[in-house]
Amino acid sequence: PFIDPVPQVPALYTSIGLSLLAFLVTLYLIPALGPTFINSNLKGKDLLKTYSTPIPESQGLVCAAVYILSLILFIPFAFTTLSPPPNGKPSPEGISVLEFPHKQLSVYLSSIISLLIATFLGFLDDVFDIRWRHKLPIPIIASIPLLMVYYADRGNTNIVVPIPLRAVFGTLVNIGPLYYLYMLMLSTFSTNSINILAGINGSEASQALIIAVSVLLNDLLYLPWRLGFRFPLHLMGNTTEIEFGGVWGAGMAKGSHILVERHLFSFYFMLPLVAVIVAFLYHNWYPARVFPGDTFCYLTGMAFAVVGIQAHFSKTLLLFFIPQIFNFLLSAPQLFGVVPCPRHRVPRFDPETNLLHPSKAQFLKPPSKISTAILHIFAKLGLVELTRHSKDGSILEVTNLTILNFFLVHLGPMNEKRLNQVLMLSQTAGSVLAFVVRYGLAGLVYDG
Ligand code: UD1
Ligand code: MG
Repeated sequence: PFIDPVPQVPALYTSIGLSLLAFLVTLYLIPALGPTFINSNLKGKDLLKTYSTPIPESQGLVCAAVYILSLILFIPFAFTTLSPPPNGKPSPEGISVLEFPHKQLSVYLSSIISLLIATFLGFLDDVFDIRWRHKLPIPIIASIPLLMVYYADRGNTNIVVPIPLRAVFGTLVNIGPLYYLYMLMLSTFSTNSINILAGINGSEASQALIIAVSVLLNDLLYLPWRLGFRFPLHLMGNTTEIEFGGVWGAGMAKGSHILVERHLFSFYFMLPLVAVIVAFLYHNWYPARVFPGDTFCYLTGMAFAVVGIQAHFSKTLLLFFIPQIFNFLLSAPQLFGVVPCPRHRVPRFDPETNLLHPSKAQFLKPPSKISTAILHIFAKLGLVELTRHSKDGSILEVTNLTILNFFLVHLGPMNEKRLNQVLMLSQTAGSVLAFVVRYGLAGLVYDG
């Protein structure tokens, strides 16, 4: 007879239960810990309000603590395989020794290490206000454990060449170390890009929420859909007996167990993340009672990098970052010092009307030739508005190079809540486009 050493507890239900618990705990703890944060000087002023009540800052720390704890609590449920080993043969003594999924556990643990480092660094940033130039490379270090596991797993460093270029390069090109460089940059990008698309109530949390839900939906495409899930419940351990034929799963997954395993991993990382983000957003929604701080941006950004890398869908993941990519490219001249960058680039608040207007960066001395050229191109493309000297036409001011100001330039002044809704709409539209590109258009340049 087979001996099951652990009582059978379906991991999926555990994950859902833990996520619900994480949601309730976060919902409760955030306001409850507010005064403690303020007493520890973790507070900020809402720049776009008339009042100056201190608001607890870096409450992303609460999200991080609850999220990481729920991931840790999940370990015993995810890594106990309850069904017989794949070959199903009992040992001569009639006992089937269950194989422990060491490899999958190391993937899981390395992901938690990266999340912890990201949280730690985000929190240091909140406390010490590290110059952004210095903090930019920090997530690179945080992702070394991920890459190590990727390497140990003989991770794929091939890129599939689009059909039209195959005559020259062949079907697959192994880019080796460059692939690792790309994954390192992915984590730096995902953490910082959320942090610089910030400053209005709810912005950080709404972006993270929409990205996390998009990743979840994408994972569902690969999971066997039928609710007879005996097997996918046991994360990563023994997925060999998964039955396909679900409504969605069948077409996409093509019966590949490894794909199911990876997307199940991503699913189990995203579900509690969505839970803590929703709870946080409730308190961060306009008018915000709490601020996320850089801790929140680093945590969520790293969580996306983790699933993108470990579950091997980093390119699809990047498609969910369309507004962030746009904001980053637009910001580049300010980030790299070509155009002056004030400490805060949030829109300008008009207390009379309660509306936001584009904020501006001033040139204290005339801009260099390069800056002038770049800004003229940006202005031509409708990305910024320039204020020029009435006589010689030299640039005096430019609207700050952010997507929020870009919306205000085009849609006119609006209130803060509205602007965040516009941002959410653009993020959702980006995700819809991402699915179309990934599952529709990709078929034109890639096969299958
Ligand atoms: C990034 C942006 C900066 C933006 C800031 C706002 C870049 C290079 N940096 O800096 O332009 O102004 O985020 O978060 O793009 N705040 C609000 N309302 C909110 C959220 C934040 O007023 O809804 C203010 C509060 O004063 C809060 C402060 O922003 O204390 C937090 O800023 P911080 O996260 O430290 O700024 P950075 O991430 O360095
Ligand atoms: Mg920040």
